[in-house]
Amino acid sequence: MEICRSFSAIRGTVSRWRAAGERVVFVPTLGNLHQGHLELVQLAALHGQRTVVSIFVNPLQFGKNEDYALYPRTLDADIGKLKSVDCNALFCPTDLEIYPNGVEEQTTVAVPTMTNILCGATRPGHFTGVTTIVAKLFNIVQPDAAVFGIKDFQQLAIVKRMVQDLCMPIDIIEAPVTRADDGVALSSRNGYLNAQEHAIAPALYRVLCAARDRILSGERSYALVEAEARVELLHTGFLPDYFSVRCARTLEPAAGEQELAILAAAWLGRTRLIDNVTLSLPTS
Ligand code: PAF
Repeated sequence: MEICRSFSAIRGTVSRWRAAGERVVFVPTLGNLHQGHLELVQLAALHGQRTVVSIFVNPLQFGKNEDYALYPRTLDADIGKLKSVDCNALFCPTDLEIYPNGVEEQTTVAVPTMTNILCGATRPGHFTGVTTIVAKLFNIVQPDAAVFGIKDFQQLAIVKRMVQDLCMPIDIIEAPVTRADDGVALSSRNGYLNAQEHAIAPALYRVLCAARDRILSGERSYALVEAEARVELLHTGFLPDYFSVRCARTLEPAAGEQELAILAAAWLGRTRLIDNVTLSLPTS
């Protein structure tokens, strides 16, 4: 595995591969890698001949009161993990390389509407930070395709919209959610949970699945499903942020669409967990 710290190093490597006719698939990450990330890399390897992973804790997507300073930086361990899967190159730039004019002065890429709802409602600027860094990484790495997890459903929908709106010649590959045996979606932030919170965490997915099953059984009052789910989450010890049935493509509140996503974010102590399930309604 090549380790590239500069634009010129990663660009040189990728352009050599592409000149040889190899398809390059990219997996952007914040590092602190877990099994879920490694599965993204394995999926990337199925879609091309070369895989590139980036590790960059992007200051632009963290709010002022968020965990940027505390976010675990575990580069040596991450390199060890990437060597155990089909990763051909790691791109791990410095902040200065990515933001030479400073974070405040950065030109941004903003997707309208979809970015201010759901997670965006309580994390102003977060998704513009994400689309800006993803656009920059796409320009630096110049991959043929990139893998994003469905776990971050809103992020995935926003990245797909950016790629479409800006005519970026990059295929977006969607990776399924990786779950622990108890159903909890793997996330770097699970490491913040204490033992008691770990025991409560599986309820989020359970409540999402129950809501999905009710809708599949014919319930069409989404407001009722959402309200009951929030109460259920409160009873189990979560502080729900949102629980919402949405159109899977636009993320607008569901109103007659067939492809739906139920998205949830909820606090367990000081940790905010997100998860989702998708469903297709039968044609009537
Ligand atoms: O999902 C993440 O890990 C990050 O938001 C991403 C896509 C790597 C951008 O920093």
